[in-house]
Amino acid sequence: MASRQPHIYSVISTQVFSWYYTLSFFRLCPFFSCGGAELVLSLFYQASTGFDVLLKRDCACFFLQFWQLWQSDFQAALTGPLKSGTMNSSRTPQGDENAPRQQSKVVDEEEWKKKWEQKKTAFHKDQVHRLLRAHLNALLNNRTGLRIFFPLCGKAVDMKWLADMGHTITGVDVSEIGLKDFFTEQNVPYVEEDVPEIPGAKLFKSSSGNISLYCCSFYDFIRIPAKYDGIWDRGSLVAINPCDRERYSKAMLSLMEQDCCYLLVTVSYNPDLLEGPPFYVPNSVIEKLYGESCDIKLLETVDALDERHRVWGLDYFRETIHLLTLKANTP
Ligand SMILES: C[S@@+](CC[C@H](N)C(=O)[O-])C[C@H]1O[C@@H](n2cnc3c(N)ncnc32)[C@H](O)[C@@H]1O
Repeated sequence: MASRQPHIYSVISTQVFSWYYTLSFFRLCPFFSCGGAELVLSLFYQASTGFDVLLKRDCACFFLQFWQLWQSDFQAALTGPLKSGTMNSSRTPQGDENAPRQQSKVVDEEEWKKKWEQKKTAFHKDQVHRLLRAHLNALLNNRTGLRIFFPLCGKAVDMKWLADMGHTITGVDVSEIGLKDFFTEQNVPYVEEDVPEIPGAKLFKSSSGNISLYCCSFYDFIRIPAKYDGIWDRGSLVAINPCDRERYSKAMLSLMEQDCCYLLVTVSYNPDLLEGPPFYVPNSVIEKLYGESCDIKLLETVDALDERHRVWGLDYFRETIHLLTLKANTP
């Protein structure tokens, strides 16, 4: 019986797709975030050839892809490799994946103020952040009486928690509502002052002087010369517009005392499903922003998926905490 000759386009497309999957299995292919459609498409092409040009490699590759999908949640399997950390058998995006949909997204400061006016502040947590509690020692490093900085602080209750331990807190946020709410809700009396270095900015300072919250843009705040022993960055880098990340990280580096312990919390989810903020910040971006100046230690990754994320259409949402310390030779 004469064998059917596959069309040349079918042969080529089948090979392209099968190489795609071979490479993607080993995480060498840059298009992970495309989703599962390619798998269906490539099967369609394979089928259109009557599977005439299916190689053993392709079979193995398809089998492994299906196994991966079966094993873990769908999106995670297609967006990231296995990662060490406290999430056993989890897959956390890293490497060079970018989030094309998010790169051009910009939320300006006025929009943030509006969110506070409209009480769209679901990012706020009433309890001390569990990753701060769990990794407090990494922040303090056996030191007392630290100067701790909260970039884009909102009304984080963590500020009061650390202040009560005897540390001095400095925060900055564009929202006056957020900062005033902090003092009111935490029952901390405060005074309001001008900031000579920044026209239009305000300083809200606890009467006892241990908590100073600046109401201005972060990018103006850095005009005030200061260095900090510790930094708690939660909801901050992930709220910074992707196009401003380099500017932000340079500023953060300038605020670090030589022995500063900088705890950075990032989030990971399928960035095809959400524009942000919070923005997806892969580990490769942290490496790019801070790797030259800092030693970076991934401390823990936790599952943080809640109802809010499900409403956004996400099926996984993870938080990762990193410890950044300046390398010995960083000026
Ligand atoms: C996601 S919230 C996080 C707040 C806080 N870190 C927390 O954990 O609850 C981001 C905050 O950044 C503030 N913000 C956004 N852009 C800013 C900027 N350029 N300068 C200062 N604050 C900014 C917003 O007003 C908002 O309170």
